[in-house]
Amino acid sequence: MFDTTKIRSQFPILTKEIYHKPLIYFDNAATSQHPQCVIDRIADSYYRVNANVHRGVHTLSIEATEAHEAARRQVQTFINARHAHEIIFTRGTTEAINLVAGSWGNEFLHDGDEIILSVMEHHSNIVPWQLLQRHKAIKLRVIPINERGELDLDAYRAAFNEHTRLVSITHASNVLGTINPVQEMIAYAHEQNVPVLVDGAQAIPHLTVDVQALDADFYVFSAHKVYGPTGIGILYGKEKWLDAMPPYQGGGEMIAHVSFEHTTYNELPYKFEAGTPDYIGTRAFATALEWIEATGATEMHAYEQELLHYATAKLEEIEGIRIYGTARQKTPVISFLANKIHHYDMGMLLDKMGVAVRTGHHCAQPLMSTLGIEGTVRASFAAYNTREEIDAFATAVTKCCNMLR
Ligand code: ALA
Repeated sequence: MFDTTKIRSQFPILTKEIYHKPLIYFDNAATSQHPQCVIDRIADSYYRVNANVHRGVHTLSIEATEAHEAARRQVQTFINARHAHEIIFTRGTTEAINLVAGSWGNEFLHDGDEIILSVMEHHSNIVPWQLLQRHKAIKLRVIPINERGELDLDAYRAAFNEHTRLVSITHASNVLGTINPVQEMIAYAHEQNVPVLVDGAQAIPHLTVDVQALDADFYVFSAHKVYGPTGIGILYGKEKWLDAMPPYQGGGEMIAHVSFEHTTYNELPYKFEAGTPDYIGTRAFATALEWIEATGATEMHAYEQELLHYATAKLEEIEGIRIYGTARQKTPVISFLANKIHHYDMGMLLDKMGVAVRTGHHCAQPLMSTLGIEGTVRASFAAYNTREEIDAFATAVTKCCNMLR
């Protein structure tokens, strides 16, 4: 039995009340909550091991550097990267994609080249490529979805031609929950000699990711969706690509030698880590990953799937509810609308009943246009959520429907 009581007791925020009702936190796809050990690690770092990293010969700086580099190795192990220096710390998924677009894109893309994306991409995997279009005449090819919200793989294969240079695809949709068959998609792209970037922001909390088994060229995700702190994430890149890419930002740390005549750059991973890194964040990130491993990633993922099926069945019982995204492989994310009720009205009323859900276009406006809607209400689950919370949520949604009809 998965012991949710024990898990919940480790998350202080879950005892909070909203409008005198127990908080039911179903906005985990936006950000997850933090176990006590992660919060403690942040405070402990400031109390005991705060010094800038990679710079000092003094003991405190050496201790700080060791903890920071241990965090990199923790991430390496978590996603089974071949080398620790293939893990670049960024501010999050968004910065990691911008890094690839800015560095790899500027180096390897030329006028007339094409990138394959899908219609379910988050804005952070659309706009960085559009920014590149300001300087290069590149074309974005967009893969459509079927009525379940699954990618059309025939269209995917048909999108390749002699101009295709990159596939940049989400592992899982933040709106529909669809888990894309990225391993199969990467294998196909590699047969055409095309590298693949995978946006793992929504997959990493719910799937075991092995970047070598996937054979991803780039894999990106944020710590704050996997029980870790905000403002930190990673770019995983194969060594051969990272070596061939120019720096993304200039500053301290990323150089080997600077003169006004000629500057040379540092080795991996530091070439891409200009400035003082968030070494407090990286350690807390590592603690979050340790916590997941200690709690049991496989058990957590299986339990989250149970919550998904339970909640889907509960919502389907409510008259007038339409669920967007019924893929066969889904993360625990349910987007829905009720009759003609506006998503904001539903979200605000649910909040009054203590239920936190996300409403709106979820930073996926092209997907919303395809679905012919402006937004949805989205409930997304984590390992600390319970069936009792889902029961209370279903009752609250029914109440909203009756009140707003
Ligand atoms: N991209 C995050 C979400 O889907 C913030 O909510």
